Amino acid sequence: MAYIKSAALEETGYVVLDRYGKQIDPKEWMDLEYVDWKSSGDTRFAPLASAKGEIECNGFWNHKPPRTDKDGVWIDAQTAIAPTLTERALEPGANVGRCRIIELQPTTYAECLYNLHQDDNNRLNPDGTGWVVRSFFNLTDDKDSFFVLRENRTDPSEETRIALPAGAQLVIDTQRLWHAATHLGTEPRYCLITSWESGPELDAYIAKYNGVGTVDSVEVDQEILDAGQAEQTRRIAARAAALAARGQREVNAMSEA
Ligand SMILES: [Fe+2]
Repeated sequence: MAYIKSAALEETGYVVLDRYGKQIDPKEWMDLEYVDWKSSGDTRFAPLASAKGEIECNGFWNHKPPRTDKDGVWIDAQTAIAPTLTERALEPGANVGRCRIIELQPTTYAECLYNLHQDDNNRLNPDGTGWVVRSFFNLTDDKDSFFVLRENRTDPSEETRIALPAGAQLVIDTQRLWHAATHLGTEPRYCLITSWESGPELDAYIAKYNGVGTVDSVEVDQEILDAGQAEQTRRIAARAAALAARGQREVNAMSEA
């Protein structure tokens, strides 16, 4: 047996869909209830669907009974404020697990490289069922910001940088790819993140919006790239040294979001 995966994500681990062209009232994300939840960077989250329909962001596997990242329970008080965002999460007809809006404070490229992580989307996911991937629907028009994807955390040679204007839509196997956002500017970035189960519904959705698995990377000065890489190397070494001093090792670089 094997997991059901999307052929569209096989080669690079991501697809970029057509941009969403309609305006959405910012109240749909600004008026939601947010909770502090440490992810990669300085973040808060507003869940639309959670393990038990409560306003919290813990992995479904950390609840009792533990379960995989599917069958998220919609939070009526939040979906009533964000009907369009809820519709967008439901649009493919794929099973939805965690669904929430991330609020990310400005993050430099160097910080982003240190924040690169893999998600733990498929813990307890039964073999033979659909592999859980993540959709990212950018809400704010972050023209200078970009998502960074790497197959290997510390290898810049195959890095992809994907632009994040309003309406940008990405589907990413975030358990496979190391990922984080560089967010420039002074205001927070908001993005709808949804766990979707792979299968024919998701495949049809990717095809409908012309998903492409290779895009040109956002251009960044080589000096900034080099400085960011050096800073990542320095910070990873510093953390390893700090842990070693306490007799510990990095157990798991996977993150919640
Ligand atoms: Fe993540």
